[in-house]
Amino acid sequence: MSWEGVIRQYKKYLSVTKKTPVITLYEGNTPLLPATTLSREIHPDLDIYLKYEGMNPTGSFKDRGMTMAISKAVEAGAKAVMCASTGNTSASAAAYAARSGMKSFVLVPHNSIALGKLAQAAMHGAHILAIRGNFDDALKFVLQITEKYPVTLVNSLNPFRIEGQKSGAFEICDVLKKAPDYHAIPVGNAGNITAYWAGYLDYFNDKKISSLPKMIGFQAAGAAPIVLGKPVADPHTIATAIKIGNPASWKSAEQAAKDSHGLIDSVTDEEIIEAYQMLASLEGVFCEPASAASVAGVIKKAKAGYFQKGEKKTVVCILTGHGLKDPERAIDVSAKPIVIDANLEAIISQLGL
Ligand code: F0G
Repeated sequence: MSWEGVIRQYKKYLSVTKKTPVITLYEGNTPLLPATTLSREIHPDLDIYLKYEGMNPTGSFKDRGMTMAISKAVEAGAKAVMCASTGNTSASAAAYAARSGMKSFVLVPHNSIALGKLAQAAMHGAHILAIRGNFDDALKFVLQITEKYPVTLVNSLNPFRIEGQKSGAFEICDVLKKAPDYHAIPVGNAGNITAYWAGYLDYFNDKKISSLPKMIGFQAAGAAPIVLGKPVADPHTIATAIKIGNPASWKSAEQAAKDSHGLIDSVTDEEIIEAYQMLASLEGVFCEPASAASVAGVIKKAKAGYFQKGEKKTVVCILTGHGLKDPERAIDVSAKPIVIDANLEAIISQLGL
């Protein structure tokens, strides 16, 4: 059967009926890649897999939830949608809204979202406002506006977003034929860790899997309110996607970590960049910096002796967004091209052949 997106694939687990219009870009069905080199580097007993969510139609996991949120908004007769965003939600909302014929309004922190994401929202015709404030400020305004005006909220406080994002967990279990032992994931507004846990629980209750993973979530150290136990007024990190000081799904993320016997920890920008470069150079997988927080977290925990030796364990790391979203960061951390005359000898001498 050909793949026609997460709603058609997993409708049994979603709040859709025959009457729900399916607005889809055929999202989901993303690769679950074995990371053999990385596993060897990190820990002898870990089988690490990378769930490459950058392969979704708009380049991030947001499409899984957006197909649901937009389809349900159309079903309810909405004419416009709105979100606050660190970039990916706005790119996805704008694309799915365009496909459905609805208007989209997005509020983003000025000068703090990656170039590719801004380009996407603009191309899909979103009405973009860049506020002089951070994501948390933007979300506050969006909540006030969507409460009062006929505009549907498509941030992950919209329950259909979380529902759609459960599909990532279903896919992992469908491929592995079991749940992983550990599920490592970046945490920003904390919707995705909430969604994955709900997805694993659905499959567990439906007897599709017989065990549940430990959910291990990682915030950026400069934006780690859950780890610190209090909101961060002025979050900072190079991983702009997760630069969030007061996550909307804080409580449910904590619950997921607790119920699964997992944890939520933080990783520094240096650890994030190291993992970001390792993924690209050792595995050929280019993700955005925030995504690398999952792998950075596994490296940190392995070094600290968190994973027991002598017992094979499966770890799935969610790589939430594509590296091309943030070309400026990639260029910044990489070797620069050598500019050279158009001359064969000069080129050969540079190659050191
Ligand atoms: N990774 C990427 C690439 C993201 O864009 C986000 C969130 C996260 C991780 C964290 O996921 O918020 O569910 O905990 N981006 C949102 C946005 C906030 O507006 O695009 P979360």
